[in-house]
Amino acid sequence: TGDKPLAGKKAIVTSGPTHEPIDPVRYIANRSSGKQGHAIAAELSQLGAEVTLVSGPVIIPDPKGVKVIHVERAEEMRDAVLSALPADIAVMVAAVADWRVASAAGNKIKKQPGETPPSLLLTENPDILKTVGHHAQRPKLVVGFAAETQNVAENGRSKLERKGADYIIANDVSPETGIMGGDRNRVKVIGKAGDEDWPEMDKQSVAEKIARLIASHFA
Ligand code: C5P
Repeated sequence: TGDKPLAGKKAIVTSGPTHEPIDPVRYIANRSSGKQGHAIAAELSQLGAEVTLVSGPVIIPDPKGVKVIHVERAEEMRDAVLSALPADIAVMVAAVADWRVASAAGNKIKKQPGETPPSLLLTENPDILKTVGHHAQRPKLVVGFAAETQNVAENGRSKLERKGADYIIANDVSPETGIMGGDRNRVKVIGKAGDEDWPEMDKQSVAEKIARLIASHFA
């Protein structure tokens, strides 16, 4: 098992945004390239894990050696993740939209000259990480992300508790950091035993380090 420390282990990874329809042609979404989540899926596979990647709409290619399930909406992502249980590892990287339109229109909403713009009534989406973190079939290791623009450590630690995760990988996604959509990342790893700041590195290297951190729990 030297170079394949995760041989025989099953991992579920979410990546990318979700698209929540307003009508057949419009949607609400978070910004997410899928680069970090896809890289983590590929690295876990490199270490020998059998990986299911549940991906929202992204333009990057499917990673090799990984089973990819493509979804659009948060509810579809949740269903795909729960269908992939049981698993040993869950890494929830997707930027899931917190809200969806309560009742999406079946036809394109037409712009009527002189009429007031429509209002959108939103409803909360399922929290996939929290569901997995408190599930009867909870994977042995559950890892979440926290994209924050303020109070990164505090928000990350409260997320660790609330969501039932073993680690939260927190990053500052303020526009001036260039992290969102970029190839580099600087993260704070928040675990039960404490925090660790990793230096800035490319998303591929962050993925390798996260995969090795995960593997250390199965040694
Ligand atoms: O609460 P917040 O969205 O900041 O939490 C981020 C973490 O929770 C990420 O790991 C993300 O993938 C996960 N998440 C989720 N389902 C949601 C919202 C967030 O799995 N509806």
